[in-house]
Amino acid sequence: MNRKLVFATLLLAGGLTLTLGGIAHADDDDYGEREWGRYGRSVDVPPVANSRYAAECGSCHFAYQPGWLPARSWRQMMGNLGNHFGENAELDAATRDAITGYLVEQAADTQSNRMSRRILASLKADEAPQRISELRFMRREHDEIPARMVEKNPKVGSRSSCQACHTQAAAGIFNEHGVNIPGFGRFED
Ligand code: HEC
Ligand code: HEC
Repeated sequence: MNRKLVFATLLLAGGLTLTLGGIAHADDDDYGEREWGRYGRSVDVPPVANSRYAAECGSCHFAYQPGWLPARSWRQMMGNLGNHFGENAELDAATRDAITGYLVEQAADTQSNRMSRRILASLKADEAPQRISELRFMRREHDEIPARMVEKNPKVGSRSSCQACHTQAAAGIFNEHGVNIPGFGRFED
């Protein structure tokens, strides 16, 4: 290539970059709708943002986001930690109260995301479910996944182990793109 050609090529490339940059920028301008869409689609529940909760309630299993259950469910669970699904998960009173406060503050009743609203709407006012995995909505989402991929899969073990299959569970993202069932990969229904 002679010098003139190199220069012309550079100019052309620069122009293209500017044009593409312009398009991307124009796209960002109507971000109101797009950001909302992107947020609503990808982040199903706000991720856990409380280190005490993460440490105490994430030691035996995934630290479930508070937005999966209504406040009345969390209150009932936190009032009965001595018999927590057959385990003793008792905490000192100050820690228990602080964690209860966090859960109630971020419970499904307080969230505007689609997932929390759907769960709440599916419950009767006096229902206080204790298992996220057994909410009607969750059972519907998972009932086609056979036991060999879950209960009989030593790398999963239970439908309560959200993070075993949802690789972005800790970030609050549960869509199909993040699903990777250990030993099976993507789930095709
Ligand atoms: C000593 C271990 C232990 C600790 C600590 C613990 N849990 Fe659990 N938790 C369990 C077990 C065991 C289950 C039942 C899991 C299963 O059936 O696979 C469970 C289940 C749950 C479930 C229902 C999961 C589902 O199926 O949807 C929730 C919600 C839950 N725990 C919340 C908490 C909270 C909140 C804390 C902190 C106060 C906590 N856990 C601390 C052992 C523990
Ligand atoms: C055995 C693997 C596995 C486990 C364990 C599991 N899931 Fe799923 N989950 C899936 C698969 C597969 C789908 C279906 C994805 C699809 O629609 O193709 C799904 C779907 C979902 C959806 C619907 C996503 C959407 O965009 O419609 C939510 C929400 C969800 N799971 C939450 C959870 C939560 C919360 C837990 C734990 C309490 C959990 N899952 C445990 C595999 C799993």
